[in-house]
Amino acid sequence: MTTRPRHIAIIMDGNGRWAESRHLPRILGHRRGVETVRKIVTAVRNEEIPYLTLYAFSSENWQRPDEEVGALMGLLGHYLSHELKTMLQEDICLQVIGDTSRLPENVRAILLDAVQKTAGNRTMTLILALSYGGRAELVQAARQLAVKVAAGELSPDAIDHADFADCLETQGIPDPDLLIRTSGEMRISNFLLWQIAYAELYFSETYWPDFDETQLQAALAEYARRQRRFGLTGAQLRREDSHS
Ligand code: IPE
Ligand code: IPE
Ligand code: MG
Repeated sequence: MTTRPRHIAIIMDGNGRWAESRHLPRILGHRRGVETVRKIVTAVRNEEIPYLTLYAFSSENWQRPDEEVGALMGLLGHYLSHELKTMLQEDICLQVIGDTSRLPENVRAILLDAVQKTAGNRTMTLILALSYGGRAELVQAARQLAVKVAAGELSPDAIDHADFADCLETQGIPDPDLLIRTSGEMRISNFLLWQIAYAELYFSETYWPDFDETQLQAALAEYARRQRRFGLTGAQLRREDSHS
């Protein structure tokens, strides 16, 4: 029985409302949100949780006003260039999922540089979901499999879960055990649709800029109280426990 997650995924929501509730421009909420990212990345690393995925920008977020998108891209570039040093010091490996070809060229260059320079780090893997959409990821996986079938390399009947998972951008990364969404919204918003099949869901009322280590600890405590069943009965789980 694991009481601690190996992989936490977070939908960092509520930056805009945090700012609007203070009569501030939304971008100030995003700026404060970056501070929370810094704190939570370090907190998760110090908890020795090996994988953290952060939903930073969805494929749908491109439809926001140009000014907000531009400001978010600027913050992202700024964050990455400043955090590279910390990632190297804290032995954090940065990975990215999503359509990075849509990012501004300078931001993309900073991102790929950070991914490359941190590739050998092992203590924690930080996965940023940028320009990410779960449905787009599933569609491209279907396309990859279709190409293999058309080339005669794979039989449709032989396609199994592992083949499918291998075509996702999260290939090689364990599925999230705990999914946290802040700001009181209770939806998935096109995040990791395949990978969260059996994740424990945790919703916090707090806007992302106010989310902190204490609240992360509360989520971890709640996770430890949950009983994950994976479709089995209580008796089966007790038997599995006694064997482990
Ligand atoms: C989350 O905060 C950050 C991004 C989606 C980029 P929002 O900007 O969605 O904040 P709300 O939901 O409008 O409060
Ligand atoms: C989800 O938040 C995306 C990120 C946190 C990056 P949104 O604010 O975009 O989601 P909806 O529109 O409320 O579903
Ligand atoms: Mg939102």
